Amino acid sequence: MITRDPISGVGIGLRAEHYEYVKRERPSIPWFEVLIDNYLGHGGQIQRHLQDFSELYPLTFHGVGMSLGSCDPLNKTYLDLLKQAIQTYQPVLVSDHLCWTGFQHEYVHDLLPMPYTEEAAHHVADRIKQAQDYLGTQILLENVSSYMQYQISDMSEAEFVAYVCVLADCHLLLDINNIYVSAFNHRFDANEYLSLMPTDRIQEFHLAGYEDQDDHLLDTHGQAIHPPVWELFKDAIKRFGARPTLIEWDNNVPEFSVLQQEAGKAELILDQEQHYAA
Ligand SMILES: [Fe+2]
Repeated sequence: MITRDPISGVGIGLRAEHYEYVKRERPSIPWFEVLIDNYLGHGGQIQRHLQDFSELYPLTFHGVGMSLGSCDPLNKTYLDLLKQAIQTYQPVLVSDHLCWTGFQHEYVHDLLPMPYTEEAAHHVADRIKQAQDYLGTQILLENVSSYMQYQISDMSEAEFVAYVCVLADCHLLLDINNIYVSAFNHRFDANEYLSLMPTDRIQEFHLAGYEDQDDHLLDTHGQAIHPPVWELFKDAIKRFGARPTLIEWDNNVPEFSVLQQEAGKAELILDQEQHYAA
């Protein structure tokens, strides 16, 4: 297994709109998350950006390509490319989602939730273990937001997330916005969800903005973080203590200074609320 120096504080998701600004101004950000799928299999300028940023900042790799919950065989081509990138750029953390994104080589652009059953938990945990063995590193598994549920589920999402992390012996990337969005959409208690999370496996938090569609919330990552998500983040920090936290903003990407303001708010909460942590 590869070991790297830990990160802390609030990082920002690196987006192409800010490449030049970040290289030129070297803003005081403790780390950046890169959407690694955008770089895999590319040479030239795209690879040079990744090389440059890896020399300037600690990086984390975040992907959607493992499709860990799928019934298709693991995509060895994707894992090979990811492994190569991990060895070359030495990210501090590597994460993907607890979801499936396709079947029989037909892919969708949604991160689809799993049925929350014993069988599905073992299925996805076995695949996570295979992926971790192949990559030579433990991964962080992120909880996704969802808009549908399966009648076959016989445990809650929170129970399923916690169970899979233990079965797979992987870490957890707790997306606070995703918990809030799913809690609203499926009418469950977000704080009860937090109470079921395996504290010692949480290695990172994500924060993002959703879009209010009246009868449901849409996880768009296209606007500022909403007040109830900040409140839930405070609850999480009180409960778990500080963890590296990321500002995720993928659509309608604003000026870098807006992301820095959001990061500043998160830093303040990390500083203030961690003292209440048990
Ligand atoms: Fe996220």
